[in-house]
Amino acid sequence: QKHDILTLDDVKLLVNTFYDKIRVDPMLGGIFNGAIQDRWPEHLEKMYRFWQSILLEENTYNGRPFPPHMQLPVGKEHFDQWLKLFFDNIDAQFEGEKAHEAKWRAYKIAQTFHSKIEYFRQN
Ligand code: HEM
Repeated sequence: QKHDILTLDDVKLLVNTFYDKIRVDPMLGGIFNGAIQDRWPEHLEKMYRFWQSILLEENTYNGRPFPPHMQLPVGKEHFDQWLKLFFDNIDAQFEGEKAHEAKWRAYKIAQTFHSKIEYFRQN
């Protein structure tokens, strides 16, 4: 039975299952594994706090989301694939207002990251 994203355990499930798929994705896996290497536990902890702050209004994330993305070799096709995995992963497990909000927020942030990367790219 699907339910909404209402607790920190729901957020952890969302994040863990999403990055399980990211790590083995043919397009994105190598980019993430290359950058993160043996720091996956820290990355996942950070992402729990990021989504907890957005979806549960519990402000545990205090980082700066964009800088680590600035130098990544990514373009529109990478963001489209990231969003596809994120949307599919949510739809497979959750439904409701927060599930919808998570997809909307991810879409808006992906747009922002992509346009900043394009803006700063030297070519
Ligand atoms: C961090 C890759 C899209 C949110 C990271 C890191 C990588 C990465 C490699 C870890 C950097 C490190 O610790 O060494 C990507 C790629 C993306 C993508 C390849 C798409 C093509 C997104 C999107 C969001 C997001 C759409 C938000 C909805 C974050 C956050 C962090 C992060 C919050 C942690 C920032 C911090 O250090 O506080 N990403 N990302 N990413 N990413 Fe992404």
